[in-house]
Amino acid sequence: MSLKLGVNIDHVATIRQARRTVEPDPVAAAVLCELAGADSITVHLREDRRHIQDRDVRVLKQTLRTMMNLEIAATDEMIAIACEVKPEQVCLVPEKREEVTTEGGLDVIGNRKAVEKAVRALKGAGILVSLFIDPAIDQVRASHEVGADAVELHTGSYAEAFPHADAELSRLQEASKEVLALGLRLHAGHGLTYWNVRPVAEIPGMAELNIGHSLIARAVLVGMERAVREMKDAMLGR
Ligand code: PXP
Repeated sequence: MSLKLGVNIDHVATIRQARRTVEPDPVAAAVLCELAGADSITVHLREDRRHIQDRDVRVLKQTLRTMMNLEIAATDEMIAIACEVKPEQVCLVPEKREEVTTEGGLDVIGNRKAVEKAVRALKGAGILVSLFIDPAIDQVRASHEVGADAVELHTGSYAEAFPHADAELSRLQEASKEVLALGLRLHAGHGLTYWNVRPVAEIPGMAELNIGHSLIARAVLVGMERAVREMKDAMLGR
């Protein structure tokens, strides 16, 4: 299976919300990403609705020709929205109001009951469930035990350490082996850039990378089509 690029378009909605207006529309951005070769579109519907709005999720679901990866916290409100909209995939993430972006992975061990309940409800609605976790063997095992289909390994510490990231890369590689041994799908994301993406992309069995900030930052300067194309090139070493 070839490595897929999921483009996180939250930042497009952040620019729109800076003026509480209608532009730029993340739906238009998603169409451009797809035309440029994105394999999926990721959006995070946060409890505080700071960027992506409910309307975006619904219109995207009707518009996308690839697939939607919806990031949500495991709350009753968000699970209900996901079960109604039915994105192809949900990624459960931890969420704190004060944070600038998702800090740290989901503590599946510490929140086992709540996560298990959310996974069951989402899978019951026919949605693939991914859990965003730190690259730790015990969290991988817990993710398997609660019934997840996939895990997205948090690459934030790796990205912060880069280019002196050998230890963090080893953690990702070891966790990845366990993910595959348990029969889960292997995804990764957070803090990946044009410069640090390749070693993560090369981890055997890596199926999907979700990338937002670096790609949208480049798109502001060179356009979405080129930014997506160049990220795929960086991932695949072309
Ligand atoms: N994956 C998850 C689960 C995330 O929460 C985020 C950030 O919203 C990303 C990937 C993308 O991270 P970045 O914007 O740093 O590329």
